[in-house]
Amino acid sequence: MNPSPLLARFFLITSLLTGLYVTNAQAEDKRIAIWLSDAQRATVLAEMRQFLIASQAILENALNENMDRVEDAAREVGLKQLQGMSAELTAKLPPGFKALGPQVHKEFEEIANEAETLGDRDEILNRLAKLQNLCIQCHAVYRLEREKP
Ligand code: HEC
Repeated sequence: MNPSPLLARFFLITSLLTGLYVTNAQAEDKRIAIWLSDAQRATVLAEMRQFLIASQAILENALNENMDRVEDAAREVGLKQLQGMSAELTAKLPPGFKALGPQVHKEFEEIANEAETLGDRDEILNRLAKLQNLCIQCHAVYRLEREKP
């Protein structure tokens, strides 16, 4: 048997794998780092997870026309949550982050108000869809890093 096709295949596979490896290594993270203490980072990430929980609850309960639950879920991450932020943490956040964050809380509050008053399902779903663009926008730009203690 002529070994050269096998050899050629070996080289082809090796170079493909090397290519993949190099591409991954070069896919550097270009997002802006925000440096926080462990506790501050944990606070922000916990809030983020609440955003996801609220978004899911709003979606599911709007689809089921359960407006009381939509209101509760949205209110939980509305303006009330924004007011709980410590000044020390806020001081470390870049202006772009500080502009988008409150917008998200305001939008959740609006969804809660809509659920409490007219309770128009399509209006709520439209608002949620628009609101999620803010999540995407911010995630594209920032990442959280741990400060050295
Ligand atoms: C103002 C900026 C900003 C907005 C707005 C924002 N996020 Fe985030 N979110 C972040 C950053 C920064 C991280 C950390 C990403 C990293 O370090 O890689 C994050 C992380 C997360 C995580 C991961 C949490 C964990 O425990 O690791 C989830 C889930 C999340 N966000 C959901 C959402 C949802 C849902 C929304 C919209 C309703 C949202 N976020 C809006 C900035 C934002």
